[in-house]
Amino acid sequence: MVAPLPLPFTGPWLLAPMEGVTEPCFRDLVLARHEPADLGGAFTEFVRVTHYPVPTRRLRAHLGPRRFEIPVGIQLMGADAGRVAETARNAREAGAPLVDLNFGCPAKGALRGCAGSAMLDDPPSVEALVRQCADAVVDVPVTAKIRAGGEDDALLEDLARAAEAGGASLLTVHCRTRREGYRDTADWERLRRAVGAVGIPVCGNGGIETHADLQRLRAETGCAYAMVGRAALADPWIFSGRRVDRAEAAQFLLEYARDLMETGAGPRGAAGRVKQLLGHWSAGDLVGGERSSWLRERDPQALLERLARSLPSAASAPGT
Ligand SMILES: Cc1cc2nc3c(=O)[nH]c(=O)nc-3n(C[C@H](O)[C@H](O)[C@H](O)COP(=O)(O)O)c2cc1C
Repeated sequence: MVAPLPLPFTGPWLLAPMEGVTEPCFRDLVLARHEPADLGGAFTEFVRVTHYPVPTRRLRAHLGPRRFEIPVGIQLMGADAGRVAETARNAREAGAPLVDLNFGCPAKGALRGCAGSAMLDDPPSVEALVRQCADAVVDVPVTAKIRAGGEDDALLEDLARAAEAGGASLLTVHCRTRREGYRDTADWERLRRAVGAVGIPVCGNGGIETHADLQRLRAETGCAYAMVGRAALADPWIFSGRRVDRAEAAQFLLEYARDLMETGAGPRGAAGRVKQLLGHWSAGDLVGGERSSWLRERDPQALLERLARSLPSAASAPGT
């Protein structure tokens, strides 16, 4: 078995890969608001590898133009080991400090292509994909993100060991099965089982709601790392636990809209992304009991002006 490579993370709390969310604009706003000791790493959205290896320039775009001390790994999802491994090589060339492989996506498109969580029914295919990627990049750690299983969690230990045997340097376990989707309950006992099955570090994921949960997950499961998904959409400061006020919360969302528009989104697209966050948002008590009225706001400019009214006086919304 290949020895795992050292991981580039600067701390134990990680921002989860989230398609449609952790593109450079949102991710960089979160990274810029954290010390490296508070947020240890982040990931791109999954990059789908289908009919051809993804070229280096597209992978660079996923990493975005800014660099932080906090590392950002590129996540790949695909079933063809040769093409995924070639893409991993391109990711290394693009400057990725880590390549993560997605074995958890439950979307129909992924399942049709036998990628993502489709592979949870077949641990040898997980091992083969990890191995081919680890062999392809050599000095860049390859990590695997699995769910606790497909229909049930019976293969959890086999999946964990398959990732380790293939040469993964870290195993992230989203503690829900594919069948369980994103349901509210999260069984952390499964994380403890994964930790017991492998010698490589395990990152626990699923159901973290507060800053205190991060430490609790590590204490209860023995995971070396803890990863936050949706709770970081509610409160992007969850990693430090800093409580921001209404103005700081509004400022985040306005900067997000501005950055999206500067990188080519139209006002409607940018407002849609802001509303996606507002659907989860709790930071700064900005939304309070008025979530549905925020989400009903159809006019992008009116939405941004409403956010700007939460700033200290004289600030204005970015023009749409
Ligand atoms: C909007 C959204 C997009 C997601 N996209 C990805 C993705 O691109 N890659 C991935 O591995 N997981 C993806 N996930 C799953 C999360 O990384 C995470 O495993 C899941 O949300 C469970 O963590 P949580 O309970 O903290 O949200 C996504 C989740 C959400 C809500």
